[in-house]
Amino acid sequence: MAKASANYVCQSCGAASTRWGGRCDACGAWNSIVEEALREVAPRGLAGGGRRIEFESLTAVSLEAPNLRLVTGIAEFDRVLGGGLVRGSAVLVGGDPGIGKSTLLLQVAAAAARIGAPGRCAYISGEEAVAQLRLRAQRLGLAVEGVDLASATSVRDILASLDLAGAPAVAVIDSIQTMFVDSLDSAPGTVAQVRASAGELIRLAKRRGIALFLVGHVTKEGLIAGPRVLEHMVDTVLYFEGERGHQFRILRAVKNRFGPTDEIGVFEMTDSGLKEVTNPSALFLAERRDNVSGSAVFAGIEGTRPVLVEIQALTAPSTLAAPRRAVVGWDSGRLAMVLAVLESRCGLAFGGRDVYLNVAGGLRIAEPAADLAVAAALISSLADVPVPGNAVVFGEVGLGGEVRAVAQPASRLKEAAKLGFARALVPVGRGRGARGHGSTDGIEVNEIAHLNDLVAALAAGEAAGRARPASKQPKPTRVPSHG
Ligand code: TYD
Ligand code: MG
Repeated sequence: MAKASANYVCQSCGAASTRWGGRCDACGAWNSIVEEALREVAPRGLAGGGRRIEFESLTAVSLEAPNLRLVTGIAEFDRVLGGGLVRGSAVLVGGDPGIGKSTLLLQVAAAAARIGAPGRCAYISGEEAVAQLRLRAQRLGLAVEGVDLASATSVRDILASLDLAGAPAVAVIDSIQTMFVDSLDSAPGTVAQVRASAGELIRLAKRRGIALFLVGHVTKEGLIAGPRVLEHMVDTVLYFEGERGHQFRILRAVKNRFGPTDEIGVFEMTDSGLKEVTNPSALFLAERRDNVSGSAVFAGIEGTRPVLVEIQALTAPSTLAAPRRAVVGWDSGRLAMVLAVLESRCGLAFGGRDVYLNVAGGLRIAEPAADLAVAAALISSLADVPVPGNAVVFGEVGLGGEVRAVAQPASRLKEAAKLGFARALVPVGRGRGARGHGSTDGIEVNEIAHLNDLVAALAAGEAAGRARPASKQPKPTRVPSHG
C-alpha cells in the first residue's frame, strides 16, 4: 500500500519530509516548512495506455527555424536572453518585491508589440487590477500600445483564453506565486501550486509557440515558494537585482538554454521607467575619486562584455578578538583567501585589523580575475598608498601568491583604453612571453608575476609621486621592502 508520506514541504527548496521542523534539512532555511495536501496517487503499473512518441532525426531538427527569435529592441534585455525572445520558451524572472520586475516586463511586452510581434502580447497580472496597471503605465509614461492587459489567477481560465489558434506571441504571468490550479487543494504560492501552475503554463507555451515570462518573487524568509523550485522547469532563469537605495538594476542570466549565462543587462530606474545603460563602466566609475588609498579599478568581464568597476577596501585597527571581515558584492571566502596569501606570502599584517570590501555601484562580481584588484585595494588601504588613478587591475591570485592569467585580457584592456585609462597591472604571459612592460591599445602594461611585484609596483608609484615637487608632506608608507 502506498503510504501517505512526505506532506511537509519546504517552500524555499521544495524538499519534502514526513514531519514538520523549524529548519529545512535540505537547504537550511528557517521556518519554511509548510504542510501541503497530498494528491492521492494510486500505485499502478504503467504498461499499456501510453501514446507513441514520434522520433525525429537529430539532423532534421532545425534550430534556425524562421521566427524562432523575437528581438524586442531593448538591447540590454535581448543580449541577456542571448539575442532576443525565443518562441515556445519559458523564462523565469526572479527578484525581490519592488525591484521593478513588473515594470521591466511591461516595457518588454510593449517593445515586442511595437516591433510587430506576430501576434498580440498578453500581460496577465494576479497582483494588480487592470486599472492599476494602466495607471502605473501612464504615470511612468510607458508606451504600452499593443499589450493586452488582464487580471487573472486561475490557470484554467488562462489556458482557456490563450490555448487558441491565435495565441499571443508573448505572455507575461505576474506573478507565478498568485496563480492556482483548481484541482489542487493547497493555497496559491505553495510549492505544489507554483509547480503545477508553472507546469501547465509551460506546456501551453511549448504547444502554442508563446514566449512565456513567469515572474517570481524571491523572499528571504522563504515563506512563499521561491523561484528556486522552478529553475529546472524553465528554459531561462533571469534575476533582476539591485540595491534598494541605488537607481541601478542588473538583469542577470543564471541559466539559459538558448544563450550564454552570466550575461548582464544594466538598467537605470527613472521616473519614466527603466532606461538602458549602454556603457555600464562609465556609470560604475562615475563617483570614483582619484588618489584615494584603498581603491582599485577592476577590469572585469560580465558575460560577453567587459565592465570596469571600482573595488574599495578599508582596513582599520580592530577592537574585536576576531576582527571583522565585511564584504559587499564579492565572495567572503575569496577575500579570506586573498588576505591569507597577502599575510603569509608578502608579510603584510591584516590580523588585528577590521577589513571592509565593497564593490561600488551595487554590482556583484563572481570572477576570480578580481583577486588582483582586491589585493591592490587591500595593500593600498593598509599602506595608505593610492593605486595610480589611471590604472586598471586584473588577475587571479594563487595560494602561493603567484598571479595567474585570466580570460579575455585584450577586451579588458580595450575597454580600459576606451575609458581613458593609461596603465594596467595584469598577469604575465599575454603572448609576449617575457615579463616586463609593454604597451597595448595605448595602455602601458605592467606584468605582475607575484603579489610581491604588486606590493613593489604600488610602493614604486608612491616613491615616484614623492619625487615630484609635492605641496604636502609625503605620507609614510608601511609597505615592507622585502619581495
Ligand atoms: P515594480 O515593477 O512594481 O516592482 P516589482 O514588480 O518587482 O514588485 O516597481 C516598484 C515600484 O517602482 C513601482 O511603483 C514603480 C516604481 N518604478 C519607477 O518609478 N521607475 C522604474 O524605472 C521602475 C522599474 C519602477
Ligand atoms: Mg510586480
